[in-house]
Amino acid sequence: MSKGKILVTGGAGYIGAHTVVELDAAGYDVVIADNFSNSTPDVLDGIERITGKRHSFMEVDCSVREEMRRLFETHPDIDAAIHFAAFKAVGESVEKPLDYYRNNIDSLLFLLEELTRNSRAGGVVFSSSCTVYGQPSKSHLPVSESAPLQPAMSPYGRTKQICEDILSDTVNAANGRLKSIALRYFNPIGAHPSALIGELPRGVPQNLLPFVTQTAIGIRRELSIFGNDYNTPDGTCIRDYIYVCDLAKAHVRAVERVLKLNGVGESLEYFNLGTGRGLSVLEVVNGFMEATGINVPYKIAERRAGDIEQVWADPSKANEVLGWVADTPLEIVFKSAWEWERKIRQKI
Ligand code: UD1
Repeated sequence: MSKGKILVTGGAGYIGAHTVVELDAAGYDVVIADNFSNSTPDVLDGIERITGKRHSFMEVDCSVREEMRRLFETHPDIDAAIHFAAFKAVGESVEKPLDYYRNNIDSLLFLLEELTRNSRAGGVVFSSSCTVYGQPSKSHLPVSESAPLQPAMSPYGRTKQICEDILSDTVNAANGRLKSIALRYFNPIGAHPSALIGELPRGVPQNLLPFVTQTAIGIRRELSIFGNDYNTPDGTCIRDYIYVCDLAKAHVRAVERVLKLNGVGESLEYFNLGTGRGLSVLEVVNGFMEATGINVPYKIAERRAGDIEQVWADPSKANEVLGWVADTPLEIVFKSAWEWERKIRQKI
C-alpha cells in the first residue's frame, strides 16, 4: 500500500530524479511535474528502468499559475510536495536576474497558493542552498543552521533567501495547516549506481565534478583550478561534496516529517545537508583520479569571481532529527560520476 502521494516539481532534474527513485523505494506514489527546461524526457525512462514503474508525470511550468492549478486539479489527492523546480546557474542569474526572480519565486508562490487554497496536502519540502550562509566566519565552521545568514552574492542566491522568507511567512499565517522543511544543500555530486540517471549540464559545466568527468573523458582539454592562494591547507577552496543519492534519501526523511504536520517540530525547519567533511579542489581531483585510475590534466588558474573560500556543513541536526547521515564512501561517489559520464557519451 502506498504511504502517500508526493508531488515532485522539477522531478526530471538532477536531484529531483534521484529523489523520485528514493521515494519509490520507500513506498510513496509520486507525481512528477517538470517542463524539461534543464532536463529531458529520457530522465523519466531512466527512472522507470530503475524503479520498474512509470510514475505519473505532467509537463508543467510551475511559474505559470494556470499550469500549477491544472496540476492540483488533476491530482487533488497529493499529500505533500517537494519543490525542486528552479533555475540554478549562478552566472546566468547575474545576466538574467528577472528570469531568475520570476521563475524561482513565482513557482514557489503558485505552489503555496495551491497548498493553502484547497489542497489536502499540508507539507512542503523546499530545495534551499548553503549559499544562504555566504562565507561563514572561522568560528562558524563547520556551519550549522544557527550561523548568521549573509546577503547572497547573486540573484540565484537571493531567490533562495527570498523563498525561505516566503515559506516562513506562509507557514506562520497558516496556523498549523502547513508544515515546511527547507533543506540547505551543500555540493551534490555523483550519479545513481545504475548510471541510468545523473547530472546533465548544458554547455560548458560550471560546477567542479562535471568539469572533471568531461576532462577525464576528453571533451575538455584540461581543468582550470580557480586559485591556489586561498587561506586553506593546500591553497584551493574547500566545499562539502555530498553524494546525490544520500541527498535524495534525506528528502524521504523530510517528507515523512512534514506529513506528520503539527506532530513534530516548528512549522518551518531548516536542515543542512552535507557530510561534515570539507574537501579542497585538489583533494577532489586527486580523489577522482585515484578512484577511477583516469588522469585529469589540470592547471592552476585565476580565482573565480564570487567564489567562497571555504564552507562545509555541520549536519548534526539532520543526523539527529531526520535520522539521516551521508555516508557513501567518496570512492564510490567518484566512480558513480565517472560511470555516468561514460554512459551518456556512449548515448550521444
Ligand atoms: C556553486 C554556486 C552555488 C551553488 C552551487 C551548486 C557559485 C559562486 N556558487 O557553488 O551558489 O549553490 O554551485 O552546486 O557559482 N572549480 C574549479 N574549476 C572549475 C569549477 C569549479 O576550480 O572548473 C572550483 C570552484 O572554484 C570551487 C569548487 O571548485 O572552489 C566548487 O565549485 P562549484 O562546483 O562551482 O560549486 P560552488 O562554487 O560551491
